[in-house]
Amino acid sequence: MGFSPLIGRARLPGMSDDLDWYAARDMLEWQVELGATEAIGDVPVDRYALSAQTPKPAPSAPARVVAPETDAVAEARKAAAAATSLPALRDALAAFPHCELKKGARNCVFSDGQAGARVMVIGEAPGRDEDREGRPFVGAAGQLLDKMLAAIGLNRAENVYITNVLPWRPPSNRDPKPPEIAMMRPFVMRHIALAEPEILIAMGNISCDALLERRGILKLRGTWAEAAELPVMPMTHPAYLLRTPEAKREAWSDLLEIRARLDA
Ligand code: URA
Repeated sequence: MGFSPLIGRARLPGMSDDLDWYAARDMLEWQVELGATEAIGDVPVDRYALSAQTPKPAPSAPARVVAPETDAVAEARKAAAAATSLPALRDALAAFPHCELKKGARNCVFSDGQAGARVMVIGEAPGRDEDREGRPFVGAAGQLLDKMLAAIGLNRAENVYITNVLPWRPPSNRDPKPPEIAMMRPFVMRHIALAEPEILIAMGNISCDALLERRGILKLRGTWAEAAELPVMPMTHPAYLLRTPEAKREAWSDLLEIRARLDA
């Protein structure tokens, strides 16, 4: 059995002109209860005649001009270099349109702690908690980081500045991809220049990749390196230490090395 479609202001004989959505749905249900199984019109339609009248498709449009691919790293260099203060850098990063991670993130996680502190910690990327709060290292790894720093007399309220290579959380906390790291590198370098620390701590492989263009944290850790004309101490990431508590002994030795350098 067929019935007349009743979507929106469709009309049946005798039906009022201003049928609302609810009334239309009631009538549709009523017709279904009566046994209607398909939607047909009140009058037959000759589809063959219709197809004869169908306008021919327009000749295909001229080939679209494809814009040359953006060089995201060059754009990042320009945007970072133009920022002359940390708030300006934060704005430049938040406005940077070429990193897809931005689309899936709630917040642009820029930094925490004291700009101008002697020690600057550079982590990898925000996780779920950081993305929610808009601050780096606030989850479980961040709590361990705070304890590690406190053990050598450092804390965010007074004498440490903290950021990440990536300001946006990667989906499902996956590792950042090389092109993502490459386009964030100019921002990280500018961030260091504007924050003016004396010592950098590179937390984990992603940070070593961004700062030193090297990976292999288990080999790199514990030995001073150099980036942005500053000493860099590569350390195993606190998230790794949570999973591998036996590695804490070496991390402790790296912290003592940092303390000694600060006291020298
Ligand atoms: N891991 C990081 O590297 N950074 C954060 O902010 C949180 C977890």
